[in-house]
Amino acid sequence: MLFSNSIIAILAYSVSIPVVFAQISPAQLEPLITGLAQKPSSNDLDKRVPLMTDDPTVAPLIDLQVFAPPVAPKGGKSCQVELLQHSFGNGSFNVPAVVPYSPPTGEGCGEVGRWATISLNLSVSCIGTQYDRLGSIYLSNVEIWRTSSAEPTKTGTIWNTIKDVTHFTPLFAKEGELLMDFDDIISAELLLDGVFNVVLTATFYAPTESFQTPKTSDLILPLSNLSPNTSNYFTIDNDLGGTTQVKIPDTTTEIYAEIFCSGNSAEEFWYTNTPDEFLSAFPESTGLIGKGSFREVQLLVDGQLAGVVWPYAVIYTGGITPTNWRPLTAYGTYDAPTYWIDITPFLPVLLTEDTAHNITLKVVGQGRNPTINSNWFISGSLHIRTGRSKTTGRITSYNVPDAEVSTTGGSSDGNVTVWTTITARRNLKIETELKTDEGDVTVTFQQSLNYINEARYADEGWLQWVNQTTTGSVTSTHGGRKALDDAFTYPVQVASNYSLFTQQFGGYGSEIHQSHIRALQPPTAGYRAIRSIQHAQGWVNMDDWPGLRHAINGSGATEQTFAYADDRGETYFRDVATKNDGWVKDDVWGTLRDGNPPVPPNQIFGPGGGPGFRRNVGRNARFSRSL
Ligand SMILES: *[C@@H]1O[C@H](CO)[C@@H](O)[C@H](O)[C@H]1NC(C)=O
Ligand SMILES: *[C@@H]1O[C@H](CO)[C@@H](O)[C@H](O)[C@H]1NC(C)=O
Ligand SMILES: *[C@@H]1O[C@H](CO)[C@@H](O)[C@H](O)[C@H]1NC(C)=O
Ligand SMILES: *[C@@H]1O[C@H](CO)[C@@H](O)[C@H](O)[C@H]1NC(C)=O
Ligand SMILES: *[C@@H]1O[C@H](CO)[C@@H](O)[C@H](O)[C@H]1NC(C)=O
Ligand SMILES: *[C@@H]1O[C@H](CO)[C@@H](O)[C@H](O)[C@H]1NC(C)=O
Ligand SMILES: *[C@@H]1O[C@H](CO)[C@@H](O)[C@H](O)[C@H]1NC(C)=O
Ligand SMILES: *[C@@H]1O[C@H](CO)[C@@H](O)[C@H](O)[C@H]1NC(C)=O
Repeated sequence: MLFSNSIIAILAYSVSIPVVFAQISPAQLEPLITGLAQKPSSNDLDKRVPLMTDDPTVAPLIDLQVFAPPVAPKGGKSCQVELLQHSFGNGSFNVPAVVPYSPPTGEGCGEVGRWATISLNLSVSCIGTQYDRLGSIYLSNVEIWRTSSAEPTKTGTIWNTIKDVTHFTPLFAKEGELLMDFDDIISAELLLDGVFNVVLTATFYAPTESFQTPKTSDLILPLSNLSPNTSNYFTIDNDLGGTTQVKIPDTTTEIYAEIFCSGNSAEEFWYTNTPDEFLSAFPESTGLIGKGSFREVQLLVDGQLAGVVWPYAVIYTGGITPTNWRPLTAYGTYDAPTYWIDITPFLPVLLTEDTAHNITLKVVGQGRNPTINSNWFISGSLHIRTGRSKTTGRITSYNVPDAEVSTTGGSSDGNVTVWTTITARRNLKIETELKTDEGDVTVTFQQSLNYINEARYADEGWLQWVNQTTTGSVTSTHGGRKALDDAFTYPVQVASNYSLFTQQFGGYGSEIHQSHIRALQPPTAGYRAIRSIQHAQGWVNMDDWPGLRHAINGSGATEQTFAYADDRGETYFRDVATKNDGWVKDDVWGTLRDGNPPVPPNQIFGPGGGPGFRRNVGRNARFSRSL
């Protein structure tokens, strides 16, 4: 190929600390890969009779994001409590459901605050037409779950997701307010009529001899806008971010931040956004979005950087090509991953004087004034452990150079083909000497992160190929004890084809490969490793319904292998495939199988999958390049 290179080097810093890209170790990966390879023979799995049918879908269609179910004691006592039942329909946009919360006292619930496990079951059903909408759940202003919705079917769709929330025990142990936001849109004009019927239940498990109460935290504080009646995340479309003023006990010995973040609107597909330097290579009418693809979520304490998050890209069910994601969604769609930063090294700052301190969450992109588009939704919580005496200390080493970010690229004559490469690296290390009631402790927090995004464009930007990989390790030690250990690799490849998008009776499609590979020892729960690998491809045909371009029919196929293993020896493996709105196969094994079994046999179609997506009237184009 004839590329006349006009390489542009935009930014490069030099750093002083050695670059260590610790990754998931072969020992951490081994149980996942071995377990997945040891699939039981089909005789040992549920017998399933392929159901060939001309029905448009099995009703209700079971839709899901693969997850490993929570680990709970077996044979002990437990109780189930309904926390919320609500229909998010007309008028629910920006109007969350808010209900009081009280710790459970019923028979079998166990002593308040001493639970072995708390699991939440979020069950949603919907009949009708609806976009993918974002949902979030808060307890006492602390976000505990970020979710999204299926694009439902006319005959009914149901999706259940179970989440371990044991590490929020201090919140569940006291009275509070439960708020769920799930911005639905009902509009005759937009032909949207799907209402989300939500049931949220909690199961509290009492500890047993072999499954004791885990060590969580003593106190949890929100990093949120604290609103009593709207979603509590910060909506961020500038470089200032959102700030929470916090006052922590002067006996604090450990403090960790858990962060939720997701891009929305012009930032929903942040990983495909184009560097500003290359935007002029494409006609404006293609609708490419600028400010580059690199995003860093920062946590600052009184304006000083304490740690960062390089997020995994969550793809929602309407994302890029909606037919890719029904009935199997991308990993993270219904239960977004969260990220941990150990800010214990900042205790000397946070405990200075008897005043409140500012904790800021912000997002840094690659644009100017601001560096990001509109917008990001970010919130978090502080998980605090306290001792019996006042903690003092000093930061002995603060080695936090700027991230090194560079953008290069080029184009062929007349910009027929354009390519860009963005790389980023960051290494930081913060060390503090603390005097706590347990004596003198050295606390070290370290992040080592690496990022590459390679994109190629053709057909004026209507064709785009993006390969992005984010790799890193986040560790902290307290007096030699490992408090946090997070090693991850998040590769995502998107090939999208919008060449026929503006044509009458046109269409669009994509091929996507995405993995989530992570070995995580969070500070307030046990070690777990996850390896999710997905391949999806789909195509949507459009009609020319007056005023709007509507998806009229389409096809999609998605495959996933998923492996989970933890420090209790529990495992969960799943090998699934869907095609054209139907389940093709769903094999589940591992010790946790029964907690999240395969879909019922009547949902499984033959190898050709379901009948595909058909609609007489439908949705308008959803991808950000819509008209
Ligand atoms: C989750 O809740 C739904 C609706 O209440 C229920 O049908 C389903 O069985 C529950 N799942 C589990 C594992 O408890
Ligand atoms: C939604 O509610 C508004 C205000 O109450 C009402 O005007 C509108 O007709 C409703 N839309 C539908 C589709 O029911
Ligand atoms: C929401 O809460 C704010 C702050 O308390 C209050 O000013 C506002 O009136 C409330 N809005 C509604 C619709 O209740
Ligand atoms: C090609 O793209 C560059 C930006 O990369 C732009 O400056 C130039 O005007 C474009 N040329 C044409 C012919 O569109
Ligand atoms: C927190 O931010 C506010 C508003 O910018 C500022 O007035 C205050 O001095 C800050 N507090 C600290 C401890 O930095
Ligand atoms: C992305 O990776 C695939 C597989 O390695 C490769 O074929 C393709 O050329 C890459 N695309 C870009 C834009 O780098
Ligand atoms: C994009 O899709 C159109 C329509 O299916 C097809 O003709 C074309 O070959 C595709 N382009 C690429 C690069 O795959
Ligand atoms: C999709 O609809 C278009 C327009 O009605 C039709 O030409 C095409 O054959 C349909 N494709 C499939 C796969 O049903």
